[in-house]
Amino acid sequence: TRAHLTLHPAFPVGPIDRRLFGGFVEHLGRHVYDGIHEPGHPTAGPDGFRRDVIELVKELGVTTIRYPGGNFVSGYQWEDGVGPVDGRPRRLDLAWHSTETNRVGLHEFHDWLDLVGSELMLAVNLGTRGVKEAVDLLEYANVPSGTTRSDQRRANGREEPFGVTMWCLGNEMDGPWQVGHRSADDYGRLASQVAKAMRLVDTRLTLVVCGSSNRDMPTFGTWERTVLEHTWDDVDYISCHAYYQEHDGDLAGFLASGTDMDAFIDAVVATIDHVRAVKRSDKRIDISFDEWNVWYFTRWNEQEGTFAIDDWPVAPRLLEDVYTVADAVTVGGLLISLLNHADRVTSASLAQLVNVIAPIMTEPGGPAWRQTTFHPFALTSKAARGTALKVTLDADTVPTARYGDVPAVAAAATTEDGTVQLFLQNRDTTTPATVTVDLSGFPALSSATATGIWDDDPYAANTRDDPARVVPRANDTAALTGGVLTVTLPPVSWTAISVA
Ligand code: AHR
Repeated sequence: TRAHLTLHPAFPVGPIDRRLFGGFVEHLGRHVYDGIHEPGHPTAGPDGFRRDVIELVKELGVTTIRYPGGNFVSGYQWEDGVGPVDGRPRRLDLAWHSTETNRVGLHEFHDWLDLVGSELMLAVNLGTRGVKEAVDLLEYANVPSGTTRSDQRRANGREEPFGVTMWCLGNEMDGPWQVGHRSADDYGRLASQVAKAMRLVDTRLTLVVCGSSNRDMPTFGTWERTVLEHTWDDVDYISCHAYYQEHDGDLAGFLASGTDMDAFIDAVVATIDHVRAVKRSDKRIDISFDEWNVWYFTRWNEQEGTFAIDDWPVAPRLLEDVYTVADAVTVGGLLISLLNHADRVTSASLAQLVNVIAPIMTEPGGPAWRQTTFHPFALTSKAARGTALKVTLDADTVPTARYGDVPAVAAAATTEDGTVQLFLQNRDTTTPATVTVDLSGFPALSSATATGIWDDDPYAANTRDDPARVVPRANDTAALTGGVLTVTLPPVSWTAISVA
């Protein structure tokens, strides 16, 4: 298999917003409880937060973190999570058929974010609640003092406002599974009212309205158009969510999930621009791809619906997918898609962070370790800085059951201070790919270093007992001669190349 790329500094996609490398923490399964928060764990501080997990989250390089849901937020009462911990109510979590103990709420989570060094992206409940509760939460979080809610925050131990600027107006309101699911018109009207009221409290806000839960939703396209027609003047972002898994042995199709993400983004951009045209507006609305990952959703589907009335566990093991090399290569491919759309996707959240469809796993009382998917995310977040470059790609194709023939190689590139970072994926499941890259537009470059994820077994995984089975490996084939980079990519691989 062969592929040829041309890059030139005169052809940028756009600046890379660091929010592209966001994460997502939902009150779900063992994410918060027995994940990031485990009082009594040998590494836990007096606040109950595991320091080993904090170190891994920092290493992962997640920027903005979306919280507290997800489907969970559509039944959540934020007031339950503030005030003395011992007095907090235990509630039914309808989304995940669990008991929410509320031992972690806004204050605790914000303290954790301070330790991690990430920014909060806070979601309000527009499933069972509305304008008043959203404004109350904003008053509590951002008003300095002198009002009931702000003084309540101060009495609860937080003198300074939280100063949260990035807010999600509900979650996946197009989904019939969502508590309080609405039509596009109903949701669009509500989101507009909530956004307007929130901006009366705080003019600094960046607001994200819900787009479709995925591209296969029957309302996809019309949902975005209708919601944006209602909220055009009120919001800054519309969200996209997408999860991928291998279907029926179509490994090449799974690796090519980025082509679906490309089409999804292009369609939402077209819809945004359609509404802009109809409104005769100059306003810019971007995409917040605030849930994306590999998720073996069919496994969860089998579990759902089997719960009994007396079965409301605390922190059950839910959605604890164990990721393989192929999953990591797919995650790398999805990051390539996001980078190639850096002009319109300026916020994104890997869903999720710890234990729940997560790059980081933990055992109660035991270790924390990196899943395979940790590595492409961490390497990309670290290296992809500055400006995304347009990639002109001429590649052989591979057949897939899901998407027909697709380019065997996917690529993204970034540049900062004259250096170039390349991100490459080989979707061929049996054959190495020889890639050449014309870098003559960057005459000062002289050396190339390549690191990647691949293995003889594409289904190899990291586990508690073998946490370093899959780690990044040096690819010694990368060489730069006469302005042309050459590299050989193993089958089913993801590679990052630093050219300086
Ligand atoms: O990330 C898991 C779930 O996926 C989220 O709660 C929901 O928003 C989406 O359907």
